Amino acid sequence: MCGIVGYVGGREATPLLIEGLRRLEYRGYDSAGGTITDNGGLVTRKAVGKIRDLENALQRNGLPDSAIGIAHTRWATHGAPNEINAHPHSDCTGEISLVHNGIIENAGTLKKKLVSLGHEFRTETDTEVIAHLIEETYDASLEEAVRTALSQIEGAYGLAIMSSREPGTIIGARNGSPLLVGIGDNDEYFLASDIAAVLAHTRDFVYLEDGEMAVLTRDGYQIYSLKGSQIDKDVTHVDWDLDAIEKSGYDHFMMKEISEQPETLENTMRGRLLEEEGTAKLGGLQHLMDELQETDDIIITACGTSWHAAIIGEYMLEELAGIPVEVEYASEFRYRNPVIRPGTVVMAISQSGETADTLAAVREAKRHGATAMGIVNVVGSTIARETDGGVYIHAGPEIGVASTKAFTSQVITLALVTLLMARQRKMSVIQGREIVQALKALPEQVERVLELDAPIRELARTYKDAANFLYLGRGYNFPTALEGALKLKEISYIHAEGLPAAEMKHGPIALITEDMPVVIVAPNDGVYNKVVSNIEEVKARGGRVIAVVSDGNVELAEKVDHLITIPETIDMLTPVLATVPLQLLAYHIAVLRGCNVDQPRNLAKSVTVE
Ligand code: G6P
Repeated sequence: MCGIVGYVGGREATPLLIEGLRRLEYRGYDSAGGTITDNGGLVTRKAVGKIRDLENALQRNGLPDSAIGIAHTRWATHGAPNEINAHPHSDCTGEISLVHNGIIENAGTLKKKLVSLGHEFRTETDTEVIAHLIEETYDASLEEAVRTALSQIEGAYGLAIMSSREPGTIIGARNGSPLLVGIGDNDEYFLASDIAAVLAHTRDFVYLEDGEMAVLTRDGYQIYSLKGSQIDKDVTHVDWDLDAIEKSGYDHFMMKEISEQPETLENTMRGRLLEEEGTAKLGGLQHLMDELQETDDIIITACGTSWHAAIIGEYMLEELAGIPVEVEYASEFRYRNPVIRPGTVVMAISQSGETADTLAAVREAKRHGATAMGIVNVVGSTIARETDGGVYIHAGPEIGVASTKAFTSQVITLALVTLLMARQRKMSVIQGREIVQALKALPEQVERVLELDAPIRELARTYKDAANFLYLGRGYNFPTALEGALKLKEISYIHAEGLPAAEMKHGPIALITEDMPVVIVAPNDGVYNKVVSNIEEVKARGGRVIAVVSDGNVELAEKVDHLITIPETIDMLTPVLATVPLQLLAYHIAVLRGCNVDQPRNLAKSVTVE
């Protein structure tokens, strides 16, 4: 959701800004732009489309040398994705330039007031009001003017602001949208929405909290509250590898991330399995062991793919730990009046750790006195910081907009949490050890599933022109069906629906014809026989069935049109193995249809607006 990058230092700013934007492009990609200083003035360039369109525009027009600038990649909220609405935005005088991630909720009221004071607006964006508000009070200090402007703003923002009157300064401000300061070598400083933008240049970051401002110059950076008091903040060192944010020979980040899963699952589990005791050790939960032991009420909240992992977590925790679990869409949870009792544990699952609705749900849970726990990928992200404790999934940076490796690592993390909480309760050490062994076997089993890439590509060729798909599964694999359908629709634009297999009878069965491919997840688990009956129902109506089954299944070979076989594992871990071929199927169908799999239309990786 919109990406911001800023630079002040001794190097040429434009290539650094372009590189940063390219790394942030997954946050939004309908238009891009930037501003640099030039002999006491500001030069702004914008382009509709991808970062390469901005680069082409820059090459056509040329740019002066400058060592300070801000830039932005946009995911439109207010106003069409055209050049005028692309950031940076400016005031009437052209002295101020700023980029914004978020939504200004009182933009309409502020705009009316500013127009009555004589300000002229050029764009349809909510962002432009900030530039005019700053102009209105800008006297001697940009910092003071920004502070006054922000005191009138309601809504979410991550901002980077420059002025030609103070050309050596960039001001950043945060409320609800992520922003951090990167501390480079040789007196250079970066401002960015996330670390990927500038990881090539620094590993040392200061994360801004809501209500904080950063002032960057060549001489250093200062963090202030919006009221003006200076704040001392810790510097976080991040040791993510640069390779992790590059494609490393793959055509797409999505394929790279699918292929990384044996390794990422290993990383999720590293140092956390206690084989002898048949349980898990999770450092970020050590101080919450009493709360976890005593709770008899869990709510898991998330959005998108993370919400699918949440349902698998619900099934695991209820089956093995015997704790009642509710799974809530974060966007619904935050606006209902959820029943949170003393002792309720609210788990928030988020790859980015920045999803606005999930963050709001965490805050709502905490307001009600719940213990809030995060299951998050991005280290240092807002949800990770605001929860009482949690578990990093350690999947490494996920750049492809369609979540793949984060999903499987989330499921594994939920298995670890389940193991821990179930062993605190009634689960025997023997059963605990069985789960540990099954977890340990997973990376190598996923490796074997990845060997199915070529046959799955062939299957994709057969079905790439289908208009609709159904995905069915039961028990632990109902969420697998939801995830398989989501992968396909988000990157190939084929309509796909995921359902609990037995629910098909209550309506969707009417859709089944020989033109409807039906993907059925039917590993050897406790509901296998039931799913076979559902397969019969589809076949009886002429549907074409692609079944995901366990190795050695001969029964279904004769009944279905295509068989994808995965290794055997315990029921609760079957979604990990069954999801991988569905990721591959969606990927190959999308590639064969000529879709941009890493940047599907209308989507953004990190949804920081509600
Ligand atoms: C967006 C992404 C999805 C992701 C969802 C939740 O919609 O495109 O891939 O599952 O947000 O994101 P989170 O970072 O909270 O897991």
